[in-house]
Amino acid sequence: MCGIVAAVTQRNIADFLIDSIKKLEYRGYDSSGLAVIDNKNNIIRIRCVGKVNELIKKTNKKKILGNIGVAHTRWATHGKVSKENTHPHISSNIIVVHNGIIENNSVLRLFLQKKGYIFSSDTDTEVIAHLLHWEQNKKKDSLKKVIQNSIKQLDGNYSMVVMDKNNPSKLIAARSGSPLIIGLGIEENFIASDQIALLHVTKRFIYLEEGDIAIVKKKEINIFNKDNFFIKRKEIISNTEYKSVKKGKYRHYMEKEIYEQPTSILNTLKNRLKNKNKVYFSELALEANDVFYNTENIQIVACGTSYNAAMVAKHWFESLANIPCDVEIASEFSSRKLTVRKKSLLITLSQSGETADTLLALRYSKKLGYLGNLTICNMESSSLVKESDFYILTKAGLEIGVASTKSFTTQLTVLLMLVAKIINLKKENNNISQKIVQTLNLLPMRIEKILKKNYIIKSVANILANKKNMLYLGRGNQYPIAMEGALKLKEIAYIHAEAYPSGELKHGPLALIDKNIPVIMIAPKNSLLEKNKKNIKEICSRGGLIYVFSDQEFDHEDNMNVIKLPYVEELIAPIFYIIPLQLLAYYIALKKGKEIDQPRHLAKSVTVE
Ligand code: AGP
Repeated sequence: MCGIVAAVTQRNIADFLIDSIKKLEYRGYDSSGLAVIDNKNNIIRIRCVGKVNELIKKTNKKKILGNIGVAHTRWATHGKVSKENTHPHISSNIIVVHNGIIENNSVLRLFLQKKGYIFSSDTDTEVIAHLLHWEQNKKKDSLKKVIQNSIKQLDGNYSMVVMDKNNPSKLIAARSGSPLIIGLGIEENFIASDQIALLHVTKRFIYLEEGDIAIVKKKEINIFNKDNFFIKRKEIISNTEYKSVKKGKYRHYMEKEIYEQPTSILNTLKNRLKNKNKVYFSELALEANDVFYNTENIQIVACGTSYNAAMVAKHWFESLANIPCDVEIASEFSSRKLTVRKKSLLITLSQSGETADTLLALRYSKKLGYLGNLTICNMESSSLVKESDFYILTKAGLEIGVASTKSFTTQLTVLLMLVAKIINLKKENNNISQKIVQTLNLLPMRIEKILKKNYIIKSVANILANKKNMLYLGRGNQYPIAMEGALKLKEIAYIHAEAYPSGELKHGPLALIDKNIPVIMIAPKNSLLEKNKKNIKEICSRGGLIYVFSDQEFDHEDNMNVIKLPYVEELIAPIFYIIPLQLLAYYIALKKGKEIDQPRHLAKSVTVE
């Protein structure tokens, strides 16, 4: 949540700041701002409510000449969306941009008010700015020491960049809770929350670790760890292509990411399926094999879309590998006293690897006696990967649309591969792992086929776009797909949608059925089809309006519409059936003219609890 960029450069800074902060808009887009110390040593601050485009318009009207600056795009936590609450926050000579939440900000605010500080915002970040100023004026220490003294007083997360008008040759970055990355240039250096923001200026990066403080100058970077020891952090060369950050021929990132799925799944499978039934993950440490071999229970924790993927995996682990699997929403997992099952493996699932709830769940689990923990994640440099015993990458590529699409299908692909791997390690039923490997190889082609049916989904979307409520139904491993379909619709089309297991309808929601609440049912050919057919009749006989997504023919009923889809193998059907539901949500949102890539109130990676 919230995006930070900062730089001390050879080039004129304002254009760099707005180009870069625009690329971080996915992290929050309530309001944005920048501050530059110009060539005459004035602080120039520009802040606006709304998208970064507002900031660009306002900045372009001014002539700012300077080489050091910071910028921020906000996802409000403390204080409403307003210009006053927009970063950067300033206390005299100190300028701060911050990502995180300071839990004890009220106590500190009172303390600072008593010392005479006047607050102009409701934010916890302004508390940091005044505290730094107070500490600086107490002892005239170096800015690094001032920051170290101040962060000792902060409870919560404080990833931030600080700039001092009295010493405009350096920036200080402090990491706590959310990522900060240093981009290395030639006689200029950059800082950002995500490498995406810097790919247009460099491919060389240093990832700060939790508790690190970095002093960043044009020609020099010094990093100190949480114990204040000078430390050399590894430089990495990013292989992310700048062009992959662009929309290309698509209207939205979400549309691009939906259509990229055959390729992203191919990348996920590449070099990992061997010898008919063997699965190999090169990034997985060898010791993981022992842990998997000894695993008798699995606990998965995740949030949002990743949680829905975990729910599908529960079916696969239990029905294919005979391993009991529990799935829990990460924030719930760490909010209660848990009893851990015997020989249990903890799996966290996350696109970003920075989701605060999931990270906290992982940290909590370490006190509970799990056999080990594994994260399945899309971001190799993320906190979840760093803090887990083992990791497997989903290789979806950059996902920028706030609504997850290709990260969901690649998570499912990895989970199914993992099931095959564990079956093999336990030497249980090689036929099943062989079948999984064979079928996964067909998946990209199956998804290509369904994407070609987009015109059918578009016509359904045009009919449903004016609805206020919808129900999504599925059974077995298609129930989580109904959940994911409903989540997509809520997120981007702002239509209230609820998902139910089809069999649960008669226990209450049936009372809602009428022609104004369309029911989307996923009913492919499988052992549950006959039960689903009964549910269809229950809905139709009560005057309900139903859209059945299936590869089957059905007896005609009034108000029943069948969306006939191509054949898919049962094993991979959950991965296949989410595609039309992603398209449905996308085309409905498009018809309604919604902000598809940046839905209101949301952010891509949720780094606050
Ligand atoms: C889904 O479309 C959302 N982007 C959201 O639910 C997301 O899946 C959730 O916040 C978890 O994110 P993660 O996978 O990065 O941990």
